[in-house]
This record gives sequence, C-alpha cells and structure tokens, in this order.
Amino acid sequence: MIKALLACAVGILATAPAFAATSSTSEQSIRRGEFLVGYGGCHDCHTPGWSEHGGQAPKDALLTGGGTNFQGPWGTTYPPNLRLYVQKLTPKQWTANLRALKTRPAMPFWTFRYLSDGDLADMYAYIRSLGPAGKPVHDWVPPGQPAPAPYLRLVLPGPLAVRPGE
Ligand code: HEC
Repeated sequence: MIKALLACAVGILATAPAFAATSSTSEQSIRRGEFLVGYGGCHDCHTPGWSEHGGQAPKDALLTGGGTNFQGPWGTTYPPNLRLYVQKLTPKQWTANLRALKTRPAMPFWTFRYLSDGDLADMYAYIRSLGPAGKPVHDWVPPGQPAPAPYLRLVLPGPLAVRPGE
C-alpha cells in the first residue's frame, strides 16, 4: 500500500514539471501574440478608440471591431470583432483562414505572409485569452448604399491618371 502511494506520489511529481512547462509555454505564446497583434497594427482598425487615444483602450474594448471603418469604390467595410471571430475557430482553422484571406480594403491581408504558422498560433492564443466581448460589427455595405458612420472616406480625384501597366 505504502509502495503504491509512493509510486503514485512519484508519478505526480514526475508529471508536475510537464504541467508547469505547458502553462508557461502558453503564457509565452499569449505574450508573443500580444506583441505581434500590437506591432502588426491590428488594433489600429479592429479596436474602437485606439487611434484617437494614442494607442490605448480598456481591455473590454480590445479587438472588438469597428475601430476604423472605410468607404470607397468597394463600398463600406467594418473591421470585424476578432474576439468573437476566434470563438468559432480552432487554432488550425484560424491559421488556414488567415493564409487564404482576401478581403476588401483596408485590411492588409498580405502581411500574414511574413508570419510563420507559430506566429499565427500565438496571435490566436492572445486574442482567445482576452475572452469574448462586444457585438458583431455591421456587415459590408455595397457601393452607393447608405452605410452607418463613422468611416474614413476615400475620395478619388477622377479617373486614374496612370493606368496599371502603363
Ligand atoms: C487598416 C485597417 C486594418 C488593419 C491594420 C487590420 N485590419 Fe483586419 N480588417 C479590416 C477591415 C476593414 C476588414 C473587413 C474587410 C471586408 O469587409 O472585406 C478586416 C477583416 C479582417 C478579418 C476578417 C476575415 C474574414 O474571415 O472575414 C480578420 C481575421 C482580420 N481582419 C484580422 C486582422 C489582424 C490579425 C490584423 C493585424 C495583423 C488586422 N486585421 C489588421 C481592417 C484592418
């Protein structure tokens, strides 16, 4: 009996460091994701009030979408609420989505090509760690249809002076 208990205790001790390593690894992943999201500029458009307050927002508002909306020849676009977005996805699905992503302006979807799958997993870990908050943003509004403000409007001077390929 004592032998069995000892064996059990040794078993627990042997597995304890593994648990500690896992949680510190995920803490590291979250911190690195926070860095990538911050330096990648995601808050600029996906966090309401971020630009107006010099790059600050309460935790409740972070990445809840509709920070900076855009209107132009593509219609009106609203950066989605990423905290709700990640709730529906596994890390694998998130990475697959970002790899295949093509959106209307002004989402700079091409920047993900500079990131490894590990980087994308860290971003997911950070956003997921914030928990769900906020509401879904307004859907994309096609050109020429009324769209709720605020948004930044791109005003073109007329036909393009230089056509692509010239
Ligand atoms: C300059 C503004 C801007 C920046 C910076 C930006 N986004 Fe976006 N993002 C948008 C807009 C606008 C949309 C919606 C585009 C549309 O409706 O087609 C969007 C859409 C998305 C989507 C939606 C994908 C889908 O499935 O529809 C994801 C995910 C996303 N952004 C993640 C990010 C991440 C992560 C970063 C930081 C690396 C980031 N965005 C930076 C403006 C931005």
